[in-house]
Amino acid sequence: MEVDLIIHNARQLVTCSSNGKAKKGRQMQDIGIIENGAVAVKDGVIAAVGKSDKVLREFKAENAVDANQQVICPAFVECHTHLVFAGNRLDEFELKIKGADYLEILEAGGGILSTVKKTHEACLAELVEQSQKRLDKMLELGVTTCEVKTGYGLNLETELKMLDAIAELDKIHPIDIIPTFLGAHAVSPEFKGREDEFINLICEEMLPVIADVRKCELNFKGTFKNKPFFVDVFCEKNAFNLEQSKKVLLAAKGLGFGLKAHVDEFTNLGCARFAIENGATSIDHLDATSEEEIALLAKSKTIGVITPTVNFNFGSCEFADARKMIDAGCAIALSTDFNPGSAPCPSLPFAMAIACRYQKLLPSEALNAVTINAAFAVGWSEKIGSIEVGKQADILVLDTNDYRQIAYEFGSNAVEQVIKKGKLIIDKNE
Ligand code: NIG
Ligand code: FE
Repeated sequence: MEVDLIIHNARQLVTCSSNGKAKKGRQMQDIGIIENGAVAVKDGVIAAVGKSDKVLREFKAENAVDANQQVICPAFVECHTHLVFAGNRLDEFELKIKGADYLEILEAGGGILSTVKKTHEACLAELVEQSQKRLDKMLELGVTTCEVKTGYGLNLETELKMLDAIAELDKIHPIDIIPTFLGAHAVSPEFKGREDEFINLICEEMLPVIADVRKCELNFKGTFKNKPFFVDVFCEKNAFNLEQSKKVLLAAKGLGFGLKAHVDEFTNLGCARFAIENGATSIDHLDATSEEEIALLAKSKTIGVITPTVNFNFGSCEFADARKMIDAGCAIALSTDFNPGSAPCPSLPFAMAIACRYQKLLPSEALNAVTINAAFAVGWSEKIGSIEVGKQADILVLDTNDYRQIAYEFGSNAVEQVIKKGKLIIDKNE
């Protein structure tokens, strides 16, 4: 049979195949290695996966990539970012080195709010240009799908400008983008002391408009058609309390959005339980999550997303207890949380390196956490996250013959070739 592309001669073809389910507990160690493996691709979709000699016998292709006895694995899925923003937080970086506290900086009108100011001032073209460079870095590091949140607008106009930037980036960049509306990221300074009014504004005025954006009834170039679209909330001291977070999540659920929630990053306000009980696709951070909530997560379909780059960035020695979560039977995904304040880090392999050392994930668990489980965390598991017949051909060839190298070596980049929808878009051998 004629196909478009065959990638063959992999010492390890790591499939991360999952039979349609997120990997929970012990399953997170199972990465489905085929030795001497190959993949055949037709029309951007995986047509066959198997031993090299068999695939080469059964399929013919004009284009071939020889993996040269190295590793082939699914391209990475980055499931939690605040990638679209203007400016930087270099001053805050120094303040934190000198001992300032992240939530106190926010309370004093800095932190997230300083990025909000810069993002208000930036025009659409500037936002797109700066964010595109960040996506370029991520692509080189193996990411081919990226969730991107709004949340530096805090008013409808700038939130829509951020969505416009997201739509434009999705159109011009090879990375597929999954959008999330995070209107409730911080309290807009105009609403200080009137937080409930701000929440009402989000629920009654902003969300219905965002629902129209999702249905492509507003002009966003049709980008959001046939894609998951989430609403997220930052449930935290100095951000939104449980009651306010509940209101946002319930309103979003009523409008048919997928749900995500930033929970327990610093303080446990009880939002994990509520999000899980309301069918959230993911709950993210989980640093202060209780044993009871972990047990609930294990029984649910919700993915727990850990973001150890944040703890690293704060110079902290404490991390979310992902080992306990996996041992309890949870499905865990791993993200950089790329943002200018708490994690200016575009590298998922670096997040894997931290997760293995400080959260005691095995390299196999870390790899499933950035591929198939991350695909579930963005609600797109039928399309991406594993090398299985029928899925989009988003595939990496690595500069190593053992997948464990990805998390073992840090500060370098083992990604040698990136194949997106069956096209070789990065080739370091050239
Ligand atoms: O996930 N926690 C809230 N939001 C981001 C930080 C965003 C920022 O500091 O600009 C986070 O850590
Ligand atoms: Fe975040």
